[in-house]
Amino acid sequence: MSNEVIRYGIIGCGGIANTHAEALQQIKGAQLVGVSGCSAEEPVSFAKKFGIKSFDSTDLLLQSKKIDAVTICTPSGYHASIAISAAEHKKHAVVEKPLSLTAESAKRVVEAFKNNKVKGSVISQLRFSEEIRKAKQIISSGRLGKIIMTNLNMKYYRSQEYYDSGKWRGTWALDGGGAMMNQGIHGIDMLLFLIGETKNIYGYIRTLTHKIEVEDNAVAVIEFKDGSLGTITASTSMNPAQNKTIEINGTKGTILIEEDRICRLYIENEEDYTADDITMGDSPASHIIKATGHIKQLTDFTQALLEGREPYVSLEDGMRAVDLITSVYSSSKTNEIFNK
Ligand SMILES: NC(=O)c1ccc[n+]([C@@H]2O[C@H](COP(=O)([O-])OP(=O)(O)OC[C@H]3O[C@@H](n4cnc5c(N)ncnc54)[C@H](O)[C@@H]3O)[C@@H](O)[C@H]2O)c1
Repeated sequence: MSNEVIRYGIIGCGGIANTHAEALQQIKGAQLVGVSGCSAEEPVSFAKKFGIKSFDSTDLLLQSKKIDAVTICTPSGYHASIAISAAEHKKHAVVEKPLSLTAESAKRVVEAFKNNKVKGSVISQLRFSEEIRKAKQIISSGRLGKIIMTNLNMKYYRSQEYYDSGKWRGTWALDGGGAMMNQGIHGIDMLLFLIGETKNIYGYIRTLTHKIEVEDNAVAVIEFKDGSLGTITASTSMNPAQNKTIEINGTKGTILIEEDRICRLYIENEEDYTADDITMGDSPASHIIKATGHIKQLTDFTQALLEGREPYVSLEDGMRAVDLITSVYSSSKTNEIFNK
């Protein structure tokens, strides 16, 4: 590996790969070298657009000595196997969310990176929001007192056309789940970041408004390891959609987060805070991804490799989110409470 620059390859060349390419081309210390897709022909136009090499296959990209690290932007069901292969080829990797589709395969990914002494991270762009970090600081410093209750609501909209736009979407084999595993994972990861690990999980998932295999509506009841309680709702059936909210209540105060910003903060003996321009509801098209979070996370990963430190988001973080979601799925199937 060159000491001054990390040379990247992107695996997969669809929607989110464009965000990765745009981000990597503006990060100091990162150099985007090439791309691979599901055939030799597929990445050619993507490669031309970004002025990079088109690899005929992912195997050839992973064998290239001109690449130090990869970002994995394929359908979710391929994340774990490609990440393991990347680690075995001694490539560092940033894996798009979700890290994998099962807790077991997530564990295999973590072990592959450890055994091959390469670094990995999973995309979790909200952890790079300054407001979310501020919220974490408020909670960790005890300003809300002991945490009692957390409610995460993710009432989104995706059309049937969205699910029909790619053969992998809405399937158990390649999407791995719906409202929770695909869209809701961002909020679930934020919940784990802000409150911590879970102890007991109970949930229901249902497919209510789309022709898809996976769930478009889910609810879960959670007991966290700190003894606090929580609920999660996730949907892709709500038209008009609403912004994601997380309300956290402690013995001394309450914080309300909307999308990635604090919109209300009430703390005993402190002045109340209300954001002055609380956003309107999420429009049906607003799942278009802004690159800001990816730029921050890929910058952190690049710096981590250059400095020889661990990245801010670990593969274990990705594993915990997958574990929580698959526990909700298992609970819905068996009607059992899942103990961690
Ligand atoms: N972090 C975020 O906010 C965010 C947003 C959107 C998508 N994603 C994630 O990114 C991933 C891709 O989503 P997308 O919307 O870009 O999908 P997409 O269908 O637009 O693109 C997937 C790409 O992967 C390629 N591909 C398929 N199988 C492959 C294989 N075996 N090897 C190499 N390439 C392969 C496809 O040909 C296509 O180019 C999903 O896992 C999704 O969850 C994350």
